[in-house]
Amino acid sequence: MNTNTKHRVLVTGGAGFIGSHTLVELIAAGFDVVAVDNFSNSDDTCLRGVEQITGQKIPFENVDCCDFAAMESVFQRYDFDSIIHFAAFKAVGESVEMPLKYYRNNLMSFINVLELMKKYNRNNIVFSSSATVYGETDVLPVTEETPRMPAISSYGNTKQICEDILRDTVASSSVKGIALRYFNPIGAHPSALIGELPRGVPNNLVPFITQTASGIRECLSVFGNDYPTPDGSCIRDYIDVVDLAKAHVAAITRMVEGKNKQNYEIFNVGTGKGTSVLELVEMFQRVNNLKLNYKIAPRRQGDVVSIYADTSLANNELGWKAERSLEDTLVSAWKWEQYIRRK
Ligand code: UFG
Repeated sequence: MNTNTKHRVLVTGGAGFIGSHTLVELIAAGFDVVAVDNFSNSDDTCLRGVEQITGQKIPFENVDCCDFAAMESVFQRYDFDSIIHFAAFKAVGESVEMPLKYYRNNLMSFINVLELMKKYNRNNIVFSSSATVYGETDVLPVTEETPRMPAISSYGNTKQICEDILRDTVASSSVKGIALRYFNPIGAHPSALIGELPRGVPNNLVPFITQTASGIRECLSVFGNDYPTPDGSCIRDYIDVVDLAKAHVAAITRMVEGKNKQNYEIFNVGTGKGTSVLELVEMFQRVNNLKLNYKIAPRRQGDVVSIYADTSLANNELGWKAERSLEDTLVSAWKWEQYIRRK
């Protein structure tokens, strides 16, 4: 940021995995921040970690974004023009079992934030979208123009609906918005002071790997080795969480500096490279010099075979590029797991 007065950014879901890493990168880029979270899927570990990394006290409000009055009070008490909205439920399987919980939380919180932006004339918002909006697609790598497919889960549907809510709100107001479609965020800050803290049995691959390596889980199940891919396991685009956090800083800066070409824009955030589950498991063992207990298990319902991003738009327009190697990311994930187990 090269403006004289510091620009403050409201970060909802700031105590979470991606939110906490984004607080660090915003501060490093010269922004002020205020974080809100209701700790529904987190605790204050990562906020304390952010404070250790940055040496700053993070202004924080324990607020549920679905609580309009409490959110309004945040808008009244803090001066910010930009918002990054992370706060949402994100467990794909749970969303299929409890769709109303997901629709209520993910839609209402976002609608509240947008209504308050309009009411208090706050202009810029970055929304956490997901590669899940592409569904099973034949077009690889996927570009932002690749048609969205009907969502497979209620979680995925909330991401599609929120993108549409943002598009329509931008079209009818002075709000500017950027939706970032994340591929598979993994890893941790190199300091190992912040990282992913899943509650209960992890759904996602890398936390399951690190918990298996640390002995909390007995054995990793690789879901399927009979897919039409070179080694038979599914292919994903694993994006380092610090790189992903920096994409948010680039998106906010673009809007603050008025460099956005349209008032609503969408960017894929990935590396552009697909990695199979078995390749990832092999790499994790190699770079961390350990042996992982794993077995081949049946396919998991709802998994797409292969998906990875075309990132040219983010590269060219945001001036952003994934930088950290997958090896370094997997080292950071293991370092974080060891840190958190010692705590
Ligand atoms: N996998 C295993 N074993 C595990 C966990 C996962 O083999 O214990 C495999 C999955 O089958 C899949 C790959 O590892 O092939 C990645 O699975 P994740 O659960 O880590 O990630 P997904 O690609 O299923 O989901 C991620 C995000 C979602 C988002 C989705 C969009 O977690 O929030 O990408 O594609 F919706």
